[in-house]
Amino acid sequence: MNVDETLNNASIEEKLSLIVGGGGLPKKVPGGAGETRAIDLLNIPSIVLADGPAGVRISPFRIGSLDTYYATAFPNEIALASTWNLNIVEEVGKAIGEEARDYGIDVMLSPGLNIHRIPLGGRNFEYFSEDPLLSGKMAAAYVKGVQSVGVGATLKHFVANDQETNRLMIDIVVSERALREIYLRAFEIAIEESKPWAIMGSYNKLNGKYTVQNEWLLTKVLREEWGYEGLVMTDWGAGDNQIEQIKAGIDLIMPGNDEILKKLIEAYKNGLLDEKIINERAKKVLELVSKSLTYKGHKPSNKPDLEAHAKIAYDAAVEGFVLLKNDNALPISKDAKVALFGLGSYITVKGGLGSGIAHSKYTISIAEGLKEKGIKIDEEIERVHKNHPYFEIFRNYIILLKRIYEESNKSNIEAHRFLPPIIERSATLAYAYFGVNTEIKIEDSLIEKAAKEDDIAIITISRISGEGLDRMPIKGDYYLTDGEIELIKKVSNEFRKQGKKVVVILNIPSPIEIVSWRDYVDAILVIWTSGQEVGRAVADVLLGIVNPSGKLPITWPKELYETPAMRTFPGVPKENSQYLVYEEDIYVGYRYYDTFSVEPAYEFGYGLSYTKFDYSNLSITKEGDKIKVSLKVKNVGQCDGKEVVQVYVRAPRGKLNKPFQELKGFYKTKLLKPNEEENVTIEIPMKHLASFNGSSWVVEGGEYEIRVGSSSRDIRLIGKVTIEKVCFDVKWNKISC
Ligand code: BGC
Repeated sequence: MNVDETLNNASIEEKLSLIVGGGGLPKKVPGGAGETRAIDLLNIPSIVLADGPAGVRISPFRIGSLDTYYATAFPNEIALASTWNLNIVEEVGKAIGEEARDYGIDVMLSPGLNIHRIPLGGRNFEYFSEDPLLSGKMAAAYVKGVQSVGVGATLKHFVANDQETNRLMIDIVVSERALREIYLRAFEIAIEESKPWAIMGSYNKLNGKYTVQNEWLLTKVLREEWGYEGLVMTDWGAGDNQIEQIKAGIDLIMPGNDEILKKLIEAYKNGLLDEKIINERAKKVLELVSKSLTYKGHKPSNKPDLEAHAKIAYDAAVEGFVLLKNDNALPISKDAKVALFGLGSYITVKGGLGSGIAHSKYTISIAEGLKEKGIKIDEEIERVHKNHPYFEIFRNYIILLKRIYEESNKSNIEAHRFLPPIIERSATLAYAYFGVNTEIKIEDSLIEKAAKEDDIAIITISRISGEGLDRMPIKGDYYLTDGEIELIKKVSNEFRKQGKKVVVILNIPSPIEIVSWRDYVDAILVIWTSGQEVGRAVADVLLGIVNPSGKLPITWPKELYETPAMRTFPGVPKENSQYLVYEEDIYVGYRYYDTFSVEPAYEFGYGLSYTKFDYSNLSITKEGDKIKVSLKVKNVGQCDGKEVVQVYVRAPRGKLNKPFQELKGFYKTKLLKPNEEENVTIEIPMKHLASFNGSSWVVEGGEYEIRVGSSSRDIRLIGKVTIEKVCFDVKWNKISC
């Protein structure tokens, strides 16, 4: 398409119609999130957008057809980040791109890269980390994967949508330094490294203005300073003034409707909207359309390679599990008979709720995964779980809804359209409300019997989270219920009496309270909400077929209220709005814990392995605008394993306060056999050492400590490098200091 010529031929109404989404749900691909408007006379097709990040969210069923349109459910982003493996995340992105392509989706509305400011963030599961470097790199890998097959990716939600409470009106008050060093930084890295086709604004306000109506953010920072050339869209229905949105820098108002379009045409006629701005915005939409597969004439096959992608979902899941504790309990023997407790063992939560759902054909539960590997499960305990009324309600509910669907499908009634999402959402909600939070009562005598007859106890604790709500600091959500605690204590008591081990599996979207009960158990494995293959991955890690290599992408607090941001969460009322001051400023996550010597339950970057790694031969050199950190990692344990090498930098004292240390690089090794070693080189761009002083970026001169380790508090090698003071302007041009 010759974009300029097409633009010249378009009327002002046509140009505005490009800027306003088609409204409602896409007709071409049921269950997608939205579409742009076509202009037939100019040969401009409408293109379709669908959610992620866990997979392509479309309806699995369609009116008048018995065909299915399932998508692979990949691990949620918190689990992907826990892999610290950019290659795997890129593969996941590519698989998602392929499914999007095969289902006729032009642009994925993912990845999400808001920051885990609080453990309770309702959408933390669909964001990567508390750290901007890890988040930005992960997002870049995801985007590269999606876009490698000709489908666009969207970074969302720009910016500071770090909680769900009051998301449509909350005003986030945050210093420019914290914004630039933490919240914007993740986006900046992802944009620089992966050139995403689109960016989605957020629902919240930022320092007094809706982000989607904030010219400083969308035009000055994003376009002028960062040179971003893709398209910027609103979140669905974000903000309160579409004219302001277009002026501020929004190119595409989503999902859009005819009323908004009419309003904008009026605004143009009344001189409230400039033709020049309309041209600029419409041009971005045309550029996006011209890159799309739809424009290029691609016809969806509707036959994605779900089998190949299931394998990728498994690979990503199995590398993202984090082993928090292991007192000789894991791996278990393949001959072990397992007493498997907890509803989540039998209905394992695969992902979060809301727009981030992927409608997969199945989810392999932990019990199913273990059985596939030939592991014997205590049948009596299984029966107690499966006979539990909540399990029954859940199962019957799905059967009933499926039946309704099938019946209505035969008669081809319009109701179908709404049923598939209802099935998925209600089933998951039924689980959330009736299942996960409701412990199963198990007779003491049965636990005693199991402790005598079985070899090991595994208890799964599950939680679910979703868009629109933050998690709650109550029993049954952040805290364990009395019943869950009681179960852990009883099982622990009986099994330990018999000299047997107790393992807890955490099937959760973000942290829960852990300190009060961790001493009762011998191993704790965090499996997050890791997609449809979760049970298979769990079985392989429990059996030692795969050695766990995930590391925490967040700090796990001892006490929820030690998280500094909990002091201000969820904000306070202000006139007819709500505002929230990010008082902790740049001290988010480990930046706070390390600087103010607060001990977490498990630190950022933490995760155990079944083997051990030795670090040696650290060398640090300056090469141009980079610092090169090289070292050797050797597997000195008994089994194969991968290690995540993390490089933290401690800056010298300067004018600005700095965190004790910050992550500046990381690398996941290949699978190392016992005695095998790998030479690792990690490069740190000089500009990543800069702090924002209010108007420009400053790398203080002096001696920097390069801290290389296996976690943020397990530093194995320390070196020093002297750096001269350097300053940059906001476009990263060097300036004199
Ligand atoms: C969510 C976005 C999503 C959009 C479209 C919004 O409510 O915040 O993340 O992409 O809906 O479904």
